[in-house]
Amino acid sequence: MSADIGVTGLAVMGANLARNLARNGYTVALHNRSVARTDSLLNSYGHEGNFVRTESLAELVQSLERPRRVLIMVKAGAPVDAVIDELLPLLEEGDIIIDAGNSFYEETRRREAALREKGLHFVGVGVSGGEEGALNGPSIMPGGSRESYQALGPMLEKIAAEYHGEPCCAWVGTDGAGHYVKMVHNGIEYADMQVIGEAYDLMRSLAGLEPAQQAGVFREWNTTDLASYLIEITSAVLEQEDELTGRPLVDVIVDSAGQKGTGRWTAISGLEVGSPVTTIAESVFARSISSQRELRAETSQAFSAGINGVVSAEELYSEQDAQQDFVEDVRKALYASKLVSYAQGFDMLTAAGSEFGWELDLRTIASLWRAGCIIRADLLDTIMKAYEVPQERPKNLLLAPAFTEALNECLPAWRRVVAAAATYGVPAPVFSSSLAYYDSLRRDRLPASLTQGLRDYFGAHTYERVDKPGTFHTRWSEDRSEMEM
Ligand SMILES: NC(=O)c1ccc[n+]([C@@H]2O[C@H](COP(=O)([O-])OP(=O)(O)OC[C@H]3O[C@@H](n4cnc5c(N)ncnc54)[C@H](OP(=O)(O)O)[C@@H]3O)[C@@H](O)[C@H]2O)c1
Repeated sequence: MSADIGVTGLAVMGANLARNLARNGYTVALHNRSVARTDSLLNSYGHEGNFVRTESLAELVQSLERPRRVLIMVKAGAPVDAVIDELLPLLEEGDIIIDAGNSFYEETRRREAALREKGLHFVGVGVSGGEEGALNGPSIMPGGSRESYQALGPMLEKIAAEYHGEPCCAWVGTDGAGHYVKMVHNGIEYADMQVIGEAYDLMRSLAGLEPAQQAGVFREWNTTDLASYLIEITSAVLEQEDELTGRPLVDVIVDSAGQKGTGRWTAISGLEVGSPVTTIAESVFARSISSQRELRAETSQAFSAGINGVVSAEELYSEQDAQQDFVEDVRKALYASKLVSYAQGFDMLTAAGSEFGWELDLRTIASLWRAGCIIRADLLDTIMKAYEVPQERPKNLLLAPAFTEALNECLPAWRRVVAAAATYGVPAPVFSSSLAYYDSLRRDRLPASLTQGLRDYFGAHTYERVDKPGTFHTRWSEDRSEMEM
């Protein structure tokens, strides 16, 4: 039997993608470095569809129809190169290698260029949704050549998540674009989780709302414009009681957040393409600081006198419905911060598009994240609308009328919450930095003029003037006269 596609790397993600392909009617050739995984998959799920068992990559390649499609789902990094090296002598011009793991986009660009020279297609595909998504329908962000998408797209679209009948899969751009878009998705996911954490901390520390009560608050928020998968599962986590102690589970989980690196890549790339993704960077740093547990323990002793203890919402709001008002303020602050983080993420995609020559369609990208992935949210529909008419696409998402209106509506609450956080010593890095981004963007003069003056003073870096063209330098150590360069 000749197979439609081969999958090599059958750990949790590869196995589930292979099953998803088979369940959708494709004949899937299976391969894994250690054959035990292949057999385990066949033993448990072989009945789900047509599979071809192979023991070597040569056998895998031989079993495929042309153009051959080989999907690699191994550990990102060197293993991907090792598999490609082994596949190269086995493949022929026009064949397609697909890397659906979490590879770094620069590596995908390098691999794509090298394989293109050999007449092969290399397609970096961003896949989001974890193991459940891989099996039942992930959000899929393919890069690579347009041509390769003709042979691959229909297959990927068939196994992708669906949103109102539309597949959450579309070609996003050449070479590493797919992995780049997936990386930005993950960066936004970091910020989404961080703002939820900040809201929780503020409501607990300043309004005394216990986790179980907050589960109700988040459930209620999930019926507002915040409706999203992450808000939904926040309720589930907050209402969970620890079996061992009877305490809220969130109180017995170590407060040190892990990371696998995609958030860090996003922040680094933001710096490289000159796009201020402050909310994502703050979220990555917030995880870093959470991991410094010993230092935090020592510091909380050293500076305890300077930190205000838990205060009540009444102190903050001095009205009868203080707690309710504060909770509503926090909801608005969360929404505004989330809008900023999406605006920054999409801005970064625009900058990366110019940098790497990708014609990224932001509306399509928003559409891919509406189902199957972690950041799925109602907000993405509004983002799609903002990009609907090509001639009216906003320079920055915050300038889309729906978002300008929403920010104006949230602004007083957002400022009150950030002020309360600072006054009472509750860290809210993304609430604050997103507000600072908003304030910086809407400011027509920034103190960068002074920065330029200082740079010219100590390093003769020159400056431009607001009133005439040209580049200028002041002779600071001489007579302080200005010269045109
Ligand atoms: N887990 C998730 O939720 C998730 C979500 C999205 C994307 N991803 C990405 O998907 C990819 C796969 O993830 P995973 O969790 O399923 O698996 P993984 O733990 O990242 O990798 C294990 C697989 O890689 C194979 N492998 C490792 N080194 C190899 C080498 N040098 N040559 C050949 N094969 C090698 C292993 O083969 P053996 O069985 O022989 O050891 C096994 O099949 C990764 O890039 C991951 O970041 C994961």
